[in-house]
Amino acid sequence: MAASFQCFVTGTDTEIGKTLISSALLHALAQRGVRAAGMKPIAAGTEMRGGVMHNDDVDSLMAASSVELPMEWVVPYLLREPAAPHWAAAMEDVQIEPAHIRACHARIADVADAVVVEGVGGFRVPLAGDYDSADLAADLGLPVVLVVGLRLGCINHALLTAEAIAARGLKLVGWVANLADPQMRHVEANVQAIKERVQAPLLGFVPRLHVASAANAAEHLNCSLLPGWLG
Ligand SMILES: Nc1ncnc2c1ncn2[C@@H]1O[C@H](COP(=O)(O)OP(=O)(O)O)[C@@H](O)[C@H]1O
Ligand SMILES: [Mg+2]
Repeated sequence: MAASFQCFVTGTDTEIGKTLISSALLHALAQRGVRAAGMKPIAAGTEMRGGVMHNDDVDSLMAASSVELPMEWVVPYLLREPAAPHWAAAMEDVQIEPAHIRACHARIADVADAVVVEGVGGFRVPLAGDYDSADLAADLGLPVVLVVGLRLGCINHALLTAEAIAARGLKLVGWVANLADPQMRHVEANVQAIKERVQAPLLGFVPRLHVASAANAAEHLNCSLLPGWLG
């Protein structure tokens, strides 16, 4: 049986809250008793703990999920170097195969009711050769949730990303305004400017959280605006 709710979470940049928001979505689903699973197709940057390679994004997604899955399904490509993915892969002589990612995704979608896939970097980050994160989202055929990291310049980044998502024939089903820069000025005016120009619902404004946990972020999201949301 295939998962009935799925999304691909992309962002205006790296380090702007994709993992936090993906984990919040998973947390919200899990709270409602949904069998929810996170996936991070490619993660770059690991540390050894207890003889096992770990990546922070993967750990967060797995912690927020309510289905226990083998780590090699959740993260088909776990690369050591914290670098751009195509480069981190090249450094280890790893060939990123879209078919392998699709196969892992299909296995997860088979055993979970909801799957949240966290993208890699921004929407057009190269993954291998001329294959990039946008191709991956299109390959998986998932509706997209855009996390806008609120900081100076985010309006342009949000609109460019929305345009790129549409150009791939993908559906932007919602966006989240996440306060990436706590010093940002005119926050509301920026959110409003994006709201007026993006044809997808604003799922929530996430302020700077004292504790950036999935549960705390989830409190600021109205996930029921997402088509097909469970619970
Ligand atoms: N709203 C927020 N409040 C507090 N900390 C945040 C917030 N959003 C993101 N962070 C922190 O910023 C860092 C980058 O967020 P993360 O979700 O890992 O970004 P990405 O997945 O886009 O690289 C993390 O340490 C995260 O805990
Ligand atoms: Mg991340």
